[in-house]
Amino acid sequence: MPSVETSPNRPYHLVIFGASGFTGQFVVEEAARTASEGPNGTLKWAVAGRSRQKLEKILEQAASVLSKPELRTEVDIIVADVGEPDSLAAMCKQAVIVLNCVGPYRFFGEPMVKACVENGAHHIDLCGEPQFLEGMQFNYHSKAEVNGVYVIGSCGFDSIPADIGVLFTRDQFKGTLTAVESFLTVNAGPEGGCIHDGTWQSAIYGFADGTKLQNLRKKFGLKPLPVVGSRLKRRGTLFYSNEIQQYTVPFMGSDPSVVKRTQRFLVKRDNVTPVQYGAYAGVGGVSNVVKLMFASLMFWFMVKFSFGRDLLIKYPEFFSFGVFSKEGPTRKQLEGSSFQMAFHGEGYTDGHEPSSGKPNGKIRVVVQGPECGYVTTPIAMVQAALTILNECPALPDTGGVYSPGAAFAKTTLVDRLNKHGIQFSVL
Ligand SMILES: NC(=O)c1ccc[n+]([C@@H]2O[C@H](COP(=O)([O-])OP(=O)(O)OC[C@H]3O[C@@H](n4cnc5c(N)ncnc54)[C@H](OP(=O)(O)O)[C@@H]3O)[C@@H](O)[C@H]2O)c1
Repeated sequence: MPSVETSPNRPYHLVIFGASGFTGQFVVEEAARTASEGPNGTLKWAVAGRSRQKLEKILEQAASVLSKPELRTEVDIIVADVGEPDSLAAMCKQAVIVLNCVGPYRFFGEPMVKACVENGAHHIDLCGEPQFLEGMQFNYHSKAEVNGVYVIGSCGFDSIPADIGVLFTRDQFKGTLTAVESFLTVNAGPEGGCIHDGTWQSAIYGFADGTKLQNLRKKFGLKPLPVVGSRLKRRGTLFYSNEIQQYTVPFMGSDPSVVKRTQRFLVKRDNVTPVQYGAYAGVGGVSNVVKLMFASLMFWFMVKFSFGRDLLIKYPEFFSFGVFSKEGPTRKQLEGSSFQMAFHGEGYTDGHEPSSGKPNGKIRVVVQGPECGYVTTPIAMVQAALTILNECPALPDTGGVYSPGAAFAKTTLVDRLNKHGIQFSVL
């Protein structure tokens, strides 16, 4: 069983790496807010990154935002750089869990995973890049298993609401759930909103590298999951959704890949019925559809060439119609924003066998919460870490590289998220 104990040599429950980044600053604040939820009511934690000065500023800011002056002196600082493996190893030796906020993960992530696996620190990240997530599973699962280390990727908005939402839908359905579609709507609030440049860059390089992901999947050599019940039909690339009453497109993030990995894990470990999954996102009305079409065409064309990628990276606001920006959203914008993910599931109620024809039961579940990227994400990441610390026996028996659903299926993560404003409910 992997260990989650601190010791004189490993003094920190959590080390937040990349704490000076746009997302990292909010993870720091969330850790400070929830410190009393650590084992026996305390949490020993430190911030880490490549600039001591920036980290001091971040602690200063958190102390002032949360009116907790003690953060300036009680939270330690560790200087570590992705380009200096010894500094990563030294950091990992001191941490039970590293919360890794340094992205794009395809460029910066692997040395951190390697250092965690080799030095006995569990690793949680916010990655929304399937190629990185699946690549880490391919390269490090066996070693993480031997070393008793959990490497749990995509523990932010990508992809905890979707992955845990599918499991919640399955658990609430009275019978055998066989398929779920999720529909995401984001409400920007009166001040508007945007997403920080860090995620824009991750998306640009992710799309540019699409064929590498296909090759990686071939290397796994996995058979498709069996389809139980009716096969879930794929919707078109743009359609009007009666479920959320607006134009809708397939969700382009990591959710489908993460949910599939979870289902595959649970089928193998627990011999359960796999749930088919389709992920969609609402776009809004016709004017948004026109903007999206225009932006997508430009994006698909430019992302293929290095000069195009350079331009996309230089002018995020222009090419994304203001959805992404170098400054990121303001705190006021974050306060006004929220999301809703509606899950429409179908299956066979108790007493009806999937071999008996079409599904005869339906279920609707909603996962809703505050702003996705910098409020929900830090809550999800910190709660994932607290779940490891407090409920380790409910996690898989061995270390390994896991999706959130695979790691947390048997824990109380849903209750923890509910308490922190990310609500899971059956309609
Ligand atoms: N899953 C989700 O829903 C979700 C939500 C939000 C963000 N994210 C992901 O989180 C990642 C970070 O996004 P962001 O917007 O916070 O980006 P960001 O503001 O650019 O932050 C990047 C961080 O990485 C650090 N860094 C860069 N190179 C480093 C190195 N060589 N050694 C150590 N640290 C280094 C930076 O340190 P300095 O401060 O010293 O420059 C900074 O702290 C992205 O991959 C993004 O996609 C995911």
